[in-house]
Amino acid sequence: MEHSNDERTIAGLFGLAARRLRPEVWDYFVGGSETETTIARNRMALDSREFLPRVLRDVSKLSIERPFFDRIASLPIFLAPIGSLGLFDPEAALACAKAAANAGVPMFLSIMAQPSLEDVARLSPKTDLVLQLYMRGDRNWLDGIVGRAEGAGCVALCMTVDSAVYGRRERDLSNGFSSAAAVDRVNFADRHDVQITREQAALTWDTIGWLRRRTAMPLILKGIMTADDAALCVENGVDVVYISNHGGRQLDHTSATLDQLQVVAQATAGRCKIFIDGGFLHGTDVLKAIALGADFVGIGKAQAAGLAANGAAGVSRLLTILHDEIATSLALLGCPGLADLGPDYLRQAAPIASNPLTQRTALRTRRTAAPTEEVWNDEEY
Ligand SMILES: Cc1cc2nc3c(=O)[nH]c(=O)nc-3n(C[C@H](O)[C@H](O)[C@H](O)COP(=O)(O)O)c2cc1C
Repeated sequence: MEHSNDERTIAGLFGLAARRLRPEVWDYFVGGSETETTIARNRMALDSREFLPRVLRDVSKLSIERPFFDRIASLPIFLAPIGSLGLFDPEAALACAKAAANAGVPMFLSIMAQPSLEDVARLSPKTDLVLQLYMRGDRNWLDGIVGRAEGAGCVALCMTVDSAVYGRRERDLSNGFSSAAAVDRVNFADRHDVQITREQAALTWDTIGWLRRRTAMPLILKGIMTADDAALCVENGVDVVYISNHGGRQLDHTSATLDQLQVVAQATAGRCKIFIDGGFLHGTDVLKAIALGADFVGIGKAQAAGLAANGAAGVSRLLTILHDEIATSLALLGCPGLADLGPDYLRQAAPIASNPLTQRTALRTRRTAAPTEEVWNDEEY
């Protein structure tokens, strides 16, 4: 299939998204809390590792698949949960679910998203869905949601734990923008009014323990940033530690997720799988996390960019590009399979944030007016 030049690169998809989204939605999408230092740190950590490639190895057959619970994912990535997908395309989560199924990539479906969990599962039955929860009620409410996830055939359950309260997102505050007002919370027909609830702020390990006893589904905690909390995940029978700082949208001034990967891997010592997200925009970024011990990498903003660029087809483009980038870079690293990649392939390097060639990366650009072609210069380099 022929694609426009814009759809040949991930930067091009961001460019299309930037042109299509209203400025306040763009700000909500790329922005973070307060000074946005967490966003910058996520990117800086990725930019300050360099590869040490090996040569003269047979990479004519590449293996980039990974087991994802009892399924096989075609790539070591998944679509990260995004509650407000309806802001980017009317088909919202269903578009992402279809693109994920076509690419053989799992999708985390936010409980905040639309259409409903049951509709996504029914209309895209081949998607490997993980339901991502926020606490929006009491244990009875949670019990009901877990039953719905089991009934819909989800492969795992994920509780996001970095959002006791909502981060102060200054772009949204100054634009007077609220995603809650813009998106129908269809999974909460009974509790439309709630953005963040008291139940969310009161969430503790007690509820995680209860959840562990309640379901045999694999349990993922999203938003773990320290070795101590990773160790508590192990103690509480959690299956996956999902390292995330919510893409810099919650607490500002946290560490970069990539910088916490090795300490979390040490703390869990193989007793939990490790997922990670935070600023991953290219195949090389993904491979850096795999080299440092991650099992899977979540793709957040790039997913929304693909969706805003061209609906399900845009997300499919994104996943095709990531597939090509991961395969290309793995071969150039001299690794026939993901399992061959390890920390020896990476070294700390001077960050290259001042490099003008990287300045075009969308997430560095603070913008309140509609972006122009000039800003989005996608010339080859
Ligand atoms: C617009 C938007 C909405 C999000 N909604 C959710 C959500 O509903 N639940 C959740 O756990 N994380 C949510 N996140 C956080 C992402 O899942 C992810 O952790 C974050 O974007 C980091 O990945 P990235 O740097 O690739 O964007 C959202 C992120 C964005 C950009």
